[in-house]
Amino acid sequence: MATRQKSAQKSTARVEVKNETKSGAKVRSGSTANGTMEPAKGKLGVMIPGMGAVATTFVAGVEAIRKGLAKPIGSLTQMGTIRLGKRTDGRSPKVKEFVPLAGLDDLVFTGWDIFEDNMYEAASNAGVLDYRLLEQLKPFLSTVTPRAAVFDHNYVKKIDGPNVKKGKTKMDLAEQLRDDIRDFKKTSGASRLITMWCGSTESYIEPTAAHQSVKSFEKALRENDELIAPSMIYAYASLMEGVPFANGAPNLTVDLPVMLELSRQNEAPICGKDFKTGQTLMKTVLAPAFKARLLGLSGWYSTNILGNRDGEVLDDPGSFKTKEESKLGVLEHILQPGLYPELYGNIFHKVRINYYPPRGDNKEGWDNIDIFGWLGYPMQIKVDFLCRDSILAAPIVLDLVLFLDLAKRCSALRGLGIQEWLSFYFKSPMTAPGLYPEHDLFIQLMKLKNTLRHLKGEELITHLGLEYYD
Ligand SMILES: NC(=O)c1ccc[n+]([C@@H]2O[C@H](COP(=O)([O-])OP(=O)(O)OC[C@H]3O[C@@H](n4cnc5c(N)ncnc54)[C@H](O)[C@@H]3O)[C@@H](O)[C@H]2O)c1
Repeated sequence: MATRQKSAQKSTARVEVKNETKSGAKVRSGSTANGTMEPAKGKLGVMIPGMGAVATTFVAGVEAIRKGLAKPIGSLTQMGTIRLGKRTDGRSPKVKEFVPLAGLDDLVFTGWDIFEDNMYEAASNAGVLDYRLLEQLKPFLSTVTPRAAVFDHNYVKKIDGPNVKKGKTKMDLAEQLRDDIRDFKKTSGASRLITMWCGSTESYIEPTAAHQSVKSFEKALRENDELIAPSMIYAYASLMEGVPFANGAPNLTVDLPVMLELSRQNEAPICGKDFKTGQTLMKTVLAPAFKARLLGLSGWYSTNILGNRDGEVLDDPGSFKTKEESKLGVLEHILQPGLYPELYGNIFHKVRINYYPPRGDNKEGWDNIDIFGWLGYPMQIKVDFLCRDSILAAPIVLDLVLFLDLAKRCSALRGLGIQEWLSFYFKSPMTAPGLYPEHDLFIQLMKLKNTLRHLKGEELITHLGLEYYD
């Protein structure tokens, strides 16, 4: 008790209780020493370009949870807790009771796709969820129909579809998307919006002069510059409307100076790219362990077999190159070969994705890892992860939706542009220009939780712990 009082005195928080969730839990919003946090009032509109396996597994999952048919397993916002104060304080509220997040009942959805299937049909085709569950969700899922997409076959060579917008210039297409956004806001009655890219992986491109500023980008939109990919047009439209944008694919999309400028200007947060789900999740758990124990690494061979539409799209070398870049980046940043040349200066790192239809969404990811220990003696580790891609991705989508909405309501976060504290969810986290990203999953988790503590004026947790031995 004495300890609790001491830590409460130290905290500079001035917190008012504003919201009460349907479950009756008190959710605190208001102002702290670190800014204001508006309450989550009204509906939150989730707009999803790409209504495929991930998007439908997410939306169907939210509806199943709302109906009490399933549990939000894998979601930090729904099941996670956050320790506050000292280990002896016994304060570990649920994350959703600590910060004012939108409730699942407040979520409303729309999407865009090149195919005309509604969410029920798209989920049935994706084949991720059991048809008995889908039948129970059919009345709801059938109401979510796709808006016409902004699409360019040159960017996703393996697919084509009829539900596509027409426009003379890319600026016309952006305007049409902005109309869609305003229309959804009006018709759904949402008070706030989020855009979550769950579309296919686009061909690899590098930034050019056109991507360097809002002025050059808008000129390029009007001139139909071929290096403006469809995902960038969605991002531009969202950020112009002041809507936060997250990118589930490894596309360049918001990883560009123009988007950072727009994000800051319009207080529309952005974060990393490419959901960290299966193999890379494991990589960012294992590699930090090797580094922590100073075990060397000579090679890491990762291969996957995957049979869903994502696997088909990634069979195209252009799309695969985009994914490969995203997957390869993590080891270099975690292992820091510049600091540890004898251990990590000569690593052979290979990533393969093979399209293999019989597996559908149930990917198999193999890793063969060659490490070496004391006196250089070699050892091997084999990982065989039989995962379900979209089952791993859906809770990430949910958390990102809720946290980006929180960022937009926090005075300390909404004008920053990049939300580095959300690195936890991405294979390629975004950071301020010139800063290397943190890939270690547990550093990312600490960064996320400390950000929440900071927002609420709680003490940050350093794990020093000397005070227990005073
Ligand atoms: N599932 C995972 O574990 C995981 C992890 C990381 C990244 N991702 C990425 O998430 C994305 C979605 O994955 P998925 O398994 O749902 O793929 P999917 O192929 O099932 O769905 C993608 C959908 O996007 C649509 N689409 C493509 N271009 C579009 C455009 N310009 N506008 C609107 N719709 C468009 C396609 O028609 C398709 O329906 C992919 O880029 C994938 O690489 C998935």
